[in-house]
Amino acid sequence: MQITFTTESSSDTAADCAVEFYFEERLTATEWTEAAGTPLHAAAATARFRGNSQQTFDWLAPAGLKANRFLGVGLGAEGKSDSIGFQRAGALVAKRLIASGGESVFVDAGPGAGKLDANEAAAHAAFGALLGSYRFHLYRTRLKPDQKPTLGRMIFRAADPKKAQKHFTALAALAEGVKLARDLVSEPPNILFPEEFARRCEALTAEGVEVEVLDVEAMTKLGMGALLGVGQGSVRPSRLVIMQWKGGKKKDAPAIFVGKGVCFDTGGISLKPPGGMEDMKGDMGGAAAVTGLMRALAGRQAKANVVGIIGLVENMPDGNAMRPGDIVTSMSGQTIEVLNTDAEGRLVLADALWYAQERFKPAAIVDLATLTGAIVISLGHEYAGLFSNDDDLARAIEKAGKAEAEPVWRFPLGAAYDKQIDSPNADMKNIGRDREAGSITAAQFLQRFVKEGQAWAHLDIAGMAWRANAEDPLIPAWATGYGVRLLNRLVEDHFGG
Ligand code: BES
Ligand code: MN
Ligand code: ZN
Repeated sequence: MQITFTTESSSDTAADCAVEFYFEERLTATEWTEAAGTPLHAAAATARFRGNSQQTFDWLAPAGLKANRFLGVGLGAEGKSDSIGFQRAGALVAKRLIASGGESVFVDAGPGAGKLDANEAAAHAAFGALLGSYRFHLYRTRLKPDQKPTLGRMIFRAADPKKAQKHFTALAALAEGVKLARDLVSEPPNILFPEEFARRCEALTAEGVEVEVLDVEAMTKLGMGALLGVGQGSVRPSRLVIMQWKGGKKKDAPAIFVGKGVCFDTGGISLKPPGGMEDMKGDMGGAAAVTGLMRALAGRQAKANVVGIIGLVENMPDGNAMRPGDIVTSMSGQTIEVLNTDAEGRLVLADALWYAQERFKPAAIVDLATLTGAIVISLGHEYAGLFSNDDDLARAIEKAGKAEAEPVWRFPLGAAYDKQIDSPNADMKNIGRDREAGSITAAQFLQRFVKEGQAWAHLDIAGMAWRANAEDPLIPAWATGYGVRLLNRLVEDHFGG
């Protein structure tokens, strides 16, 4: 999508469609609509268009516009409008017009609202349009002509195009990161297996990210028996990828993001039931978010030191697969009795977390994982679960999630929950008691691999990495790219820029 900013109005700019944003109950038009005369307003009133949030109004373009079609988009109340509101309005425009037959659109996002000036409002609308125009059509070879995207050019009105472009440049990098995360989650598991995922990470070297890939031999030497145990039932070898973005001061300790990258989760010998198992191609959503973040940081030349570490495995049932009852030794030296091979994500993260602390001196560690079905029962698809041993870090994550419309809800941790994963046969077992507090006992397991005094947070994104159908125009069908925007904001506001 080509995005440009201009001071011109819709009466001077040729485009297939002209769009104007409206605040609720304020159909006061900007100059060009007024020049176009009152029939537009009459038609809007007849259609009961009130400028409510996400309300739209479609019309033939009134005389005087160099467009064939007119689209009004509601922003809701001016006092409540923020960057997310402009993003959603921009996304709605893209969604409505992407396969409309039109090739270009002119958007007047209006004067801004509150702390957001007109240039920022235009930039956020353009960012929303990028997120909203996302499609995953790589494997659709028989799309009919009217199903194919036609929209390729969006022109946004801005008081100062240079300023708007500057705001947009950082947001466009972020959109690239979100797109990468969505693509990774969408790819089928026969295409995106650990080695292929690692190759896609290596492509980020072109953006200035330092990328290292550890193979099975290297991980064996490091003693990563937990991660390797999960992968041993697959013919596709496991990988650990370390991605570094060094945009901060040399002495600044890095923020580390760790991702669960189970490229497919059959459950292993504790096999999952067949219904919906195909969704488990998205069980690498945590790793995808971390990879998307690294892309975004490099794209916007972030002034922060950030390390992304992702554990990539495939969890398969096989003659060589781990059995329930097996005891594996993690890199930390702690032994784990594997009572359910479907509780595999925590095994992968255990070694990735330990590696992060052995190799670096992290300012903080945040892991992201599609870890438990229990978190979907608790929170549905509206919040990710947050678990942390550090109130400042937890607050910063909550704040970032709120600002980016990727909200989190904090859960407790505690000794009584921790006790549930004690085992008489090894240092711990990989599941708790029955299904009680399943998301919390999973987090307790992870915490056993976090060193004393190390600030750490865990985000259980099992309900957020994908969803059947979202009402939010920023979110496409299925893969959401959840986490990239939250982490990017966290790095910007809390870890140096
Ligand atoms: N990848 C799943 C969790 C999951 C479930 C993600 C639904 C997305 C949607 C995870 O590996 C898993 O299987 N967890 C088990 C843990 C149980 C065996 C303790 C679960 O949640 O049932
Ligand atoms: Mn599982
Ligand atoms: Zn899993």
